[in-house]
Amino acid sequence: MRGRPTGGATFRGRPTGSPACRSPAYRRWLVATSAVIWATAAAADPTPPQYPAGATTFQANCAVCHQAKGTGNPALAPPLTTYPARYAANPEGRKQLAMTLINGMYGKIEVEQKSFDFRMPEFTQFDDATLATVLNFIIFDLDRAGDDTKPITAEEIAAERAHPTDGAAVRAHRDKVLAALGL
Ligand code: HEC
Repeated sequence: MRGRPTGGATFRGRPTGSPACRSPAYRRWLVATSAVIWATAAAADPTPPQYPAGATTFQANCAVCHQAKGTGNPALAPPLTTYPARYAANPEGRKQLAMTLINGMYGKIEVEQKSFDFRMPEFTQFDDATLATVLNFIIFDLDRAGDDTKPITAEEIAAERAHPTDGAAVRAHRDKVLAALGL
């Protein structure tokens, strides 16, 4: 084997980090900029959630696929930022939301003209009130539905728990809801 051994190259240039970067003026600028960034982030999300328990359930169980603000993930799960509030305004749409959590859902769907084709797990390990609250977090906190929308009740979840079906049937019911809502 001929040639120079790899690795071991020595760097003889100036040390990195020019003195300007360590000047007090630069540090003051850095502190001020960080404060502005922090204030901007806080201003973007000024209000605490209306459904804090739902937020906790969502962040622990749903955000892994749907993301913390429900914006979805193109390779994993659809956004939940607009459709759930629209479903909540319609009796079959409300049923659809409860069905999705009780049975899961699979098969290709479209949300805002984008396709998704993965599997939503079922969440029957949670009680009716917990599932109603996580849906209300989505509807009112993530989607910002107005006061004219009625919150999902534990009874509406219980009604679907009493009639379990499979994820393909949930997917088929979704088509009817979208047609009724003109989505
Ligand atoms: C493993 C990833 C994953 C997790 C975790 C998950 N979801 Fe989903 N969710 C999906 C997928 C994938 C779909 C779309 C299924 C399809 O393509 O048929 C979906 C669909 C939905 C829908 C229906 C959206 C529509 O437009 O019809 C709702 C509502 C929903 N999820 C809520 C939740 C909630 C609430 C949780 C937590 C309790 C949760 N999801 C956890 C992957 C996930």
